[in-house]
Amino acid sequence: MVLSIDTFQHKSSYYIQKNILNEVYKYCKSFHQIIVVSDDGVPFSYMETLIKNLKNASYYIFPHGEKNKSPKTVTKLLDFLLQKEMNRDDLIIALGGGVVLDLVGFVASIFKRGISYYAIPTTLLAQVDCCIGGKTAIDYQQIKNAIGSFYVPNKIFIDSNVLNTLTKRQFNNGLFEIIKMGLIYDASLFNLIAEKNIIQNIDSIIEKAIKDKIDIVKKDPFDRNIRQILNYGHTLGHALESYYHFKHLLHGEAIAYGMLLETKQKDIQQKLCRIYKKIHFRLHKEIDSKQVLNFIKNDKKISGKYIVLPIIKEIGKCELIKITLDDFINSLGGHHYE
Ligand SMILES: NC(=O)c1ccc[n+]([C@@H]2O[C@H](COP(=O)([O-])OP(=O)(O)OC[C@H]3O[C@@H](n4cnc5c(N)ncnc54)[C@H](O)[C@@H]3O)[C@@H](O)[C@H]2O)c1
Repeated sequence: MVLSIDTFQHKSSYYIQKNILNEVYKYCKSFHQIIVVSDDGVPFSYMETLIKNLKNASYYIFPHGEKNKSPKTVTKLLDFLLQKEMNRDDLIIALGGGVVLDLVGFVASIFKRGISYYAIPTTLLAQVDCCIGGKTAIDYQQIKNAIGSFYVPNKIFIDSNVLNTLTKRQFNNGLFEIIKMGLIYDASLFNLIAEKNIIQNIDSIIEKAIKDKIDIVKKDPFDRNIRQILNYGHTLGHALESYYHFKHLLHGEAIAYGMLLETKQKDIQQKLCRIYKKIHFRLHKEIDSKQVLNFIKNDKKISGKYIVLPIIKEIGKCELIKITLDDFINSLGGHHYE
């Protein structure tokens, strides 16, 4: 399936199809030179599949991990592009998870004031989240996503076959963002995950999640209002990530806790818990939300003593409300999970 959208920058097309990796070369014929960038955690066989049919292609691989989403990796990659004498009519392709996409998108946006850019996301999180909306970023002085730009890939290729090499934990990491999407915006997506075999239905799940995010981003490309519903579960999730120094919890796992704690309705909480059980995510930590309050106070969504938050009305529907930080904190309380 192909989804084409007009963005504030240019037309952008999503090719969602098993084995599309083998066909990317067909969309690269007009470029003089191509650089594919990946990290060393992405199985090299994907790079081989991709470049075997590309003419004038070279690759650049940097070490995996969030700590390499850094200015140092950016300057090394820029040096490589200059050494290859890349020009504005050449193409850069990102092949990897969110770290690769965020960094390569950023470099594509600044190199010679913007170069053609394709994204091939290889984690579930990158397929349903990072490749939509054009946010690029690197971390700077230990501040996550401190530097970045809005730069939409010209084409995005989604091949669910590449997910087969992800660990279960990495797969679930992306799934939590999809569950969130179902909860805030798309009851049919939520029910699909809750009721059907997830692996057997992964293509429909990915397709729905991508369409939903595109829909939301279209309404608010620069993240000033409605797009903020995507932050559901993130206020507490981010605070938990900071509390655990980004070590014990993956981002999606922190959001999994955040969604439960921020959901007020008992029946929806129970449905979430049932999904977590189904995907073998064990909520073994007893989270005392009071412990993470100091981290909530640093949340970038806070302005003065107020915070703008998405609140679930029912599954698939939510709205943004502005409340005082104190009211938000008091509404959380402590939760205990089996
Ligand atoms: N731009 C956005 O809108 C947006 C949205 C959400 C998250 N992000 C960013 O995304 C990043 C997290 O992304 P992520 O979860 O994909 O992490 P990641 O990119 O670090 O990937 C996780 C690990 O999986 C490996 N990997 C990637 N594809 C693989 C595959 N197919 N098989 C086996 N291993 C594979 C990677 O090498 C890495 O070691 C964060 O930096 C976050 O800030 C950006």
